[in-house]
Amino acid sequence: MRALSSQLLAGAAFRRAGAIAWGEGRQASLDFLLAPPREGRTPSRGAEAKNCFSGIKQMDQIPIHAGDRVFVLTGAGISAESGLPTFRASDGLWAGYRIEDVCTPDAWRRDPAAVWAFYSARRSQGQKAQPNPAHVALAELEAKMGGERFFLCTQNVDDLHERAGSVNLVHMHGELAKSRCEYECGRPPVEDHAVYASLGEVGRCPCGGRMRPHIVFFGEIPLEMPRIEREIARATAMIVVGTSGSVYPAASFVHWARQAGARTIYIGPEAPLNAAAFTNVVEGKAGERLPGLFCVEGK
Ligand code: APR
Repeated sequence: MRALSSQLLAGAAFRRAGAIAWGEGRQASLDFLLAPPREGRTPSRGAEAKNCFSGIKQMDQIPIHAGDRVFVLTGAGISAESGLPTFRASDGLWAGYRIEDVCTPDAWRRDPAAVWAFYSARRSQGQKAQPNPAHVALAELEAKMGGERFFLCTQNVDDLHERAGSVNLVHMHGELAKSRCEYECGRPPVEDHAVYASLGEVGRCPCGGRMRPHIVFFGEIPLEMPRIEREIARATAMIVVGTSGSVYPAASFVHWARQAGARTIYIGPEAPLNAAAFTNVVEGKAGERLPGLFCVEGK
């Protein structure tokens, strides 16, 4: 059984005052993009920016110091430039579907065909997508730092981080390319790339349960939380990319990192709901801003 932290219990339903779930509009103020956060904003980077392996440390790079441990959290925004829609944009996934119809335990009990239709469509989309320069930049950062000091936690269910070369990563909201027994009978998730045209095509577990997508539905407990909490507790820098800060517990991670004394850096084109908790903000698309942004100073 997965361990429950006190934070998780507090946020188990994925809903908090001021936070969004279930499709309501974003309320974030953009003020923080106009005012310098505590450690100053990162100025615009010129096309000539290099990483510090060239021996030239650019003023606009963010250093990763010897002895730093980095925790990265990514959201749907990092895959946007690969052509995968985010959730809460005006043309995002939750504008076209109701979460209650396709992404809750109730939806699965009521209408598994609708749930599989939604995730089959996403599999089909995901299989056509390719990693973009932001995925590649994070894989390169991991390679430069060494996996021991780098940990990537993604809310995304696509496999673009793996395909870009990331190794030390967890998918806290599940994986699109896997299925598991609806009864949690103890058998592990299995690889499944099928795009099902009807519920009749979906297989059954040896125990008799129908196979469901290996996705954390709203109201379920995210995966790997004990490991994630350990990694946050020992991180000295947290890098968050392309997530609106709407869904808990992921939206709390930056606060946990700050409490542990870490630097916290956000990269994305808009302010997330938890913007005030970041010490650095890098405005822009991840695929344009991440490559070369971090300068690894030593191991
Ligand atoms: N680069 C970086 N960030 C981007 C880009 C881009 N090119 N394009 C959009 N973004 C940002 C948006 O500004 C927004 O803040 O990505 C964020 C996407 O937010 P959401 O759609 O809310 O996605 P996410 O935060 O990942 O959602 C969290 O909600 O529905 C659930 O389980 C689902 O994992 C998901 C969770």
